[in-house]
Amino acid sequence: MSFSIIGTGMYVPPKIVTNDELCKFVDTSDEWIRQRVGVERRHICTDETATDLACKAAINALENCGCAPGELDLIIAATVSGDMASPSVSCMVQRRIGAECFAFDINAACAAFVFMLDTAAGFFKRGRVKKALIVGAEQMSKIVNWEDRGTCVIFGDGAGAAVLEAGDGYVDSVLTTKGGDEVIRIPHFIGKSPFSTIRPQEPYIFMEGQETFKYAVNAMCSDIRKLLEDNNLTADDIALIVPHQANKRIIDLAAARLKIPTEKFYVNIQEYGNTSSASIPIALDELNRSGRLKRGDLIVLTAFGGGLSNASCIIKW
Ligand code: UT7
Repeated sequence: MSFSIIGTGMYVPPKIVTNDELCKFVDTSDEWIRQRVGVERRHICTDETATDLACKAAINALENCGCAPGELDLIIAATVSGDMASPSVSCMVQRRIGAECFAFDINAACAAFVFMLDTAAGFFKRGRVKKALIVGAEQMSKIVNWEDRGTCVIFGDGAGAAVLEAGDGYVDSVLTTKGGDEVIRIPHFIGKSPFSTIRPQEPYIFMEGQETFKYAVNAMCSDIRKLLEDNNLTADDIALIVPHQANKRIIDLAAARLKIPTEKFYVNIQEYGNTSSASIPIALDELNRSGRLKRGDLIVLTAFGGGLSNASCIIKW
């Protein structure tokens, strides 16, 4: 017994920042960002925090399937841009939505949504839970260096959520980590210990763009090949692939290498930028509400990012 996704939700802050507006902060252009990344605009927090976004997406997902907060047995959340180290985002969601179940966060950066699903699958398998809420929420605008054109043009804020119920909708997964901080890191604020000899690093996202790009394309290709092979499936059996939205060119290149038509890959990066752990659940919610997902469809979710980690899975809708 695993789970099926019975509800989805999302929330993005109302403030939209266009590429042209970013030209006020950094030496860039709308043309460069559209061509090299595929982003046209992103939603950015003004008076809301990652916790606010998480709660709104969670409520949206619960309403989508008519699930009351009291029915939940488990909440898992993920963020790299939360308000506090403790309590976790999931604990704050639990309180604010009025749930009573246990709750914890995981940290797997942009790959977190699939790591959360896989973690939840274990609880379902052991019969510990019947309904679970999974939330990815990010206030990336808080942790990007707005003077670094290599990162600030890419990211956006938002949250996505899914409600899971015991079922047979989680088919298979592949999780990979290649640990290290050379390619992507987000240092914590270090504090002011009078005893520390470590020089504080700026608490902003550092990313070696090209290294990450190569890792992402290779990870997506090897994950999708493995999932198809291990499950005796071909790309024709898959209704849709929902990739982490980091760069449109990553998706196009992976599609070409896999010889899978790009139309099979869902893309919404133009509207939100890269929202890290929120990007796949936001995409799923858009697909769900627009009626593009049919019960029984096989869908591949594929994600990669800081860690470095990548994680992909097949779900049956
Ligand atoms: O979610 C976590 C995973 N993250 C990712 O998967 C991101 C993966 N990486 C990428 O998406 C791309 O590497 C970036 C979008 C970050 C950068 O694109 P790129 O095509 O790899 O650019 P580049 O770093 O090779 O830089 C090419 C040129 C450089 O100029 P020179 O040295 O050739 O004169 C950069 O300085 O583009 C310049 N550049 C920009 N120009 C205008 C870099 N950023 C910008 C910018 N506007 N925003």
